[in-house]
Amino acid sequence: MKRDAKDFLIVSLDVPSIEESLVVVENLGSLVDFYKVGLELFTRGGPTIVEILKKREKKVFLDLKLHDIPNTVAGAVNAAIDMEVDLLTLHTLGGFEMMEAAQKAVWKKKSEKPIMLGVTILTSLDEAFLEDVLGIEKTFNDEILDLASIAKSAGLGGVVASAEEVSLIKECCGKDFIVATPGIRLTGAKKDDQKRFTTPFDAIVNGSDYLVVGRPIIKSENMRASAEAIIKEIKDGLQETA
Ligand code: C5P
Repeated sequence: MKRDAKDFLIVSLDVPSIEESLVVVENLGSLVDFYKVGLELFTRGGPTIVEILKKREKKVFLDLKLHDIPNTVAGAVNAAIDMEVDLLTLHTLGGFEMMEAAQKAVWKKKSEKPIMLGVTILTSLDEAFLEDVLGIEKTFNDEILDLASIAKSAGLGGVVASAEEVSLIKECCGKDFIVATPGIRLTGAKKDDQKRFTTPFDAIVNGSDYLVVGRPIIKSENMRASAEAIIKEIKDGLQETA
């Protein structure tokens, strides 16, 4: 199915209240159809924010990065299915069985949603952590690829990764394996605390399926203009790859 440029954009509602998240949603109106609800907003607002977004016919990426025993994670996935969540994250380091149990919960209900995305290694961790704490003597990239492959074999739909890793992941897991990429900044823009960042144009050219954007839009003085600029770059990227 052909996707419009705006279908690639997910705006991250990284705000502490439902009221503030609705200011963003109302400001962006029909420009944006997909929103990410993360730990802070979900912990404060609970499922209500998901219900409100769904009533407004928005898609929801519930970024809870689940990590627990398989039975518990499967229970949380069942709740996400009932809320009609579109994308849901879980930690690949939770292991194959946990991911498989989560995915089976979706299949068991014959539901197409949520598409499950694995989180590989958090960008806040480094190679020393891999070696000292987990005893893994691999490079970051190799470990990310191994975890992505395990996620794929457990049946997950994709992973969250930096835009620089997209082509390697697609090579290893296939082009239909979804890669959602945070760390997006317009050329010349403020980088905030993102160590690795990519422009929307490069992310699309690299093959990203979804661009997860928070501060460049929600902290902007003109949210609509910022979202439009990002969508324009996505469009340019799509033309480049057509
Ligand atoms: O504000 P910014 O555009 O940096 O927000 C990106 C979103 O993606 C945030 O919700 C953040 O938690 C998430 N994220 C990230 N870096 C990762 C994984 C997720 O920035 N490595």
